[in-house]
Amino acid sequence: MNKPYQVIPDIDILPAHFPIPGAGFLPVNAFVIKAKEPVLVDTGMGIESEEFMEALREVIDPQDLRWVWLTHDDADHTGSILKVLEAAPQARLVANSLAVLRMSTAWSVPMHRVNWLNPGESINVGDRTLTAVRPPLFDNPTTIGIYDNKSEAFFSADCFGAIIPSPVQNLDDVTEGDLAQGMITWASADSPWLHMVEPKVFGGALDKIRGINPKIILSAHMLPAQGKTEHFLELLAKVPTSPPFVTPNQTALEQILAQG
Ligand SMILES: [Fe+2]
Ligand SMILES: [Fe+2]
Repeated sequence: MNKPYQVIPDIDILPAHFPIPGAGFLPVNAFVIKAKEPVLVDTGMGIESEEFMEALREVIDPQDLRWVWLTHDDADHTGSILKVLEAAPQARLVANSLAVLRMSTAWSVPMHRVNWLNPGESINVGDRTLTAVRPPLFDNPTTIGIYDNKSEAFFSADCFGAIIPSPVQNLDDVTEGDLAQGMITWASADSPWLHMVEPKVFGGALDKIRGINPKIILSAHMLPAQGKTEHFLELLAKVPTSPPFVTPNQTALEQILAQG
């Protein structure tokens, strides 16, 4: 984990970087929205759960949390969910019903604390409305990003992520070339189905975000990006015609292990 910090008034980031051998680093972020009814967005990676809980406590007393929003049930988003629900007894768990069903195969989800949400539906958290938005790219059918109508932030789950060369905390520290390559590679790796989709159809999904026009994109896998929405959408538009990502195989693993 890196040190948490305030991104914009009312929104703090709990940042981490996951090293990917031979490729770089994948940012792995959770967020706290200091709404009238405070919201935690995602719960980090299980491998650093202790540090995650420490970082969370630096930002907010978990007892004050009223909502925990899981953008989807992948392990890099649910790492501390059990600890968080225990430390935040007043918080309700917001997730897509499929995510709750899937998680119920691994642990006993307290159904009386759950809020099922579909894309297009909203919750009111006192001083703002959080609307579930399905991002144009996702690696899991339970994905619900969040549009916050007060901050005009879009929490985009895995979408707009990038593998970056070094674990920097500021988008300005990533060169334009590295950003473009990192985002296109991540999109192709994380959403390989995109290569089976007509670019025009995908363009419609990008236009939906263009229509929302968020001021800031807060991806789980990218540095906070203010005023970059159009640029990011243009980068993603290139993915369907980019070469498909090929996952490293055993030959690659042996090379990595030999480097040691
Ligand atoms: Fe994911
Ligand atoms: Fe993820």
